[in-house]
Amino acid sequence: MKILAIDTSCDETAAAVTAGRRALSNVVYSQVLVHKPWGGVVPSLAKRAHEERIDQVVDQALKKQSDLGAIAVTQGPGLAIALEVGIRKAKELSAAMNLPLIAVNHMEGHLYSPFVQNSHGNPPRDFHFPYLGVLISGSHSEFILWSGHLEYKVIGETVDDAAGEALDKAARLLLNIGYPGGAAIEQIAQDAGNTDVYKFTRPMLRSGDLNLSFSGLKTTILYLHRSMTEEERVKNLKPMVSSFQEAVFDTIIRKLEKAIIQTGVNRLAVGGGVIANRYFRKKLRSLAAKYAGNAIFPAYKYLTGDNAAMIGVAAKYRAERGLFIMDHAVLERTPRMQLGNSL
Ligand code: KG4
Ligand code: ZN
Repeated sequence: MKILAIDTSCDETAAAVTAGRRALSNVVYSQVLVHKPWGGVVPSLAKRAHEERIDQVVDQALKKQSDLGAIAVTQGPGLAIALEVGIRKAKELSAAMNLPLIAVNHMEGHLYSPFVQNSHGNPPRDFHFPYLGVLISGSHSEFILWSGHLEYKVIGETVDDAAGEALDKAARLLLNIGYPGGAAIEQIAQDAGNTDVYKFTRPMLRSGDLNLSFSGLKTTILYLHRSMTEEERVKNLKPMVSSFQEAVFDTIIRKLEKAIIQTGVNRLAVGGGVIANRYFRKKLRSLAAKYAGNAIFPAYKYLTGDNAAMIGVAAKYRAERGLFIMDHAVLERTPRMQLGNSL
């Protein structure tokens, strides 16, 4: 069955047509330039930009596609007034085309992202449940015990900032570039040989649970920065950036190691914007290898950040279980939607 999928949860206006696990079309209009001057996503600007682009993005995704069987849309989590734009559009199309609606959790989409294929069916990889889902983005950092299709249990998550958010804030402070700063940090850390000169304290390692926290690290780097003269800042910039990135990634890896030991699951399914980072991917691969497992990532760059192809693929498994929305009124934006609480 072909599915038209829409995602407007944050700052990308995205639509795709999928068939099974294949993305037949995938269109993403990024609002990065709209928000960049503000150092973060401004909800009212996001809403307006989604409204301006949604028709065009959907039309482009639908080009040369016919015989749709359903329309999938992200219900949450995300920015309320941004989510609303995609949901409204999906409802309109569902009524006009007489197609059933499927509501998808955005994080469920990221979880399925390593299994999204291109139009030729690549990569052919299959499911081998259970997985430890590792979702690390600008808004989420969580570990999920993924035991089968649509069966999720969140076993650890950040209690404050997400990892990507911490990287973005550090980029703003140290490099004077905010949102999104993760890629710039990766480059500078690499130039510095990924050294860990400062050895910042890894947060929450002894918390006894699998939760993460990154706001303390942010404060640490802020105070360190304040304590330096301008000359020292310039001199120490690269090692500071590199040590900060190392603290963020090492904290995730160490907690994830606990999750592997605790659950006995050594296969990692990894998604979210931060995993564009090649150094972090390497760390994840070696952790899985240490426990004789493996780590799988989205196969194509466009599946790492926000996109609608992953929403369409997650929707396939909902459709197979008959999880369609019969009454449009029950589908409402759910900004704080948790995995496992879907309609
Ligand atoms: O998944 P995503 O596109 O949006 C959210 O749903 O949050 O993730 C965006 C995050 C930003 O924090 C950005 O700095 C980070 O992903 N990011 C990276 C890299 N590329 C993007 N972080 C580290 N290294 C990268 N190469
Ligand atoms: Zn996302």
